[in-house]
Amino acid sequence: MAAPVLETENLVKIYGRGETRFDALKGINLEIGKGESVAVVGKSGSGKSTLMHLLALLDGPTHGVVALEGRPTGDLSAKELNELRNSAFGFVFQQFFLTPNQSVLENVTLPLKIAGVPAAERKRRGLEVLEQLEMADKADNKATDLSGGQKQRVVIARALINDPSVIFADEPTGNLDSATSNVVEDILFGLNRDKGITLVVVTHDEDLARRCSRQVYLVDGQIVPSLEKAPGDAAPREEDRHPWAQQPSDATGPVRVAGPATGEVITLSQADAAAIARAAQEPARPGRHAAPAPSTPDQPGATA
Ligand SMILES: Nc1ncnc2c1ncn2[C@@H]1O[C@H](COP(=O)(O)OP(=O)(O)O)[C@@H](O)[C@H]1O
Ligand SMILES: [Mg+2]
Repeated sequence: MAAPVLETENLVKIYGRGETRFDALKGINLEIGKGESVAVVGKSGSGKSTLMHLLALLDGPTHGVVALEGRPTGDLSAKELNELRNSAFGFVFQQFFLTPNQSVLENVTLPLKIAGVPAAERKRRGLEVLEQLEMADKADNKATDLSGGQKQRVVIARALINDPSVIFADEPTGNLDSATSNVVEDILFGLNRDKGITLVVVTHDEDLARRCSRQVYLVDGQIVPSLEKAPGDAAPREEDRHPWAQQPSDATGPVRVAGPATGEVITLSQADAAAIARAAQEPARPGRHAAPAPSTPDQPGATA
């Protein structure tokens, strides 16, 4: 395997304590090589999202280590974690991720805006990634006026604006018809192939899982060699197809937010809402492959 971009050592995640204690991850040892595409597969509740949040440094383990580029992350401050996540990762969640009344360009460049990147450079970099996804002609459209597949391309464009080395995707094709799913998959695997971006994908879609270079199977918080298929396992449960319909188990309760296109109110777990908010709001850094940014004075408001 190529040098690991992400490694875990005996990763344990325990939620709650006493009677409500739940051991979501029970000692995960995993290496993800640079340029790999890894599908994380398993039944609802098996710990997929928990593992992804730990790998993406959105949450910390109870025990164990996550190392990024060979460097353990456990001792890093929140600010250092934010910076690391920002420079290294992109996130593709389901379509509730877009702000409906903002333009496509504004949605894509939001992370740069929060970082204090000047408007002209935001526009230049935003159009550059939209160009890559053949969406530049939609830059001024409202996010509402897009098809499901187009919205997901915008989400991918936003994930790319930081020029990440790893893209994390949680059910990236969960709400798309099969033709559109194929387009979105082709884009993700094209980025993997052409730019060497590592993909970590949580999915119930067996075809998508098979397209990945490796599958990691989770059962009750542990990695197993393969999934023994029990009768009835083939069809995803309703809450897996529509994660926002899931009753969050978090002690702190659900978060209700307006949905993307329709403005309908949807319910997210605290963890998912926090992850999305962080992914959307953290300041971006200039991309490694992007043209050098014109030098600008430090932005006083651009603290991490
Ligand atoms: N914040 C939390 N507090 C308590 N339990 C949680 C929390 N987040 C997840 N869990 C529990 O941990 C288990 C694994 O959750 P998750 O990683 O979301 O599974 P998956 O993504 O495979 O469906 C589930 O039983 C879930 O209820
Ligand atoms: Mg999940």
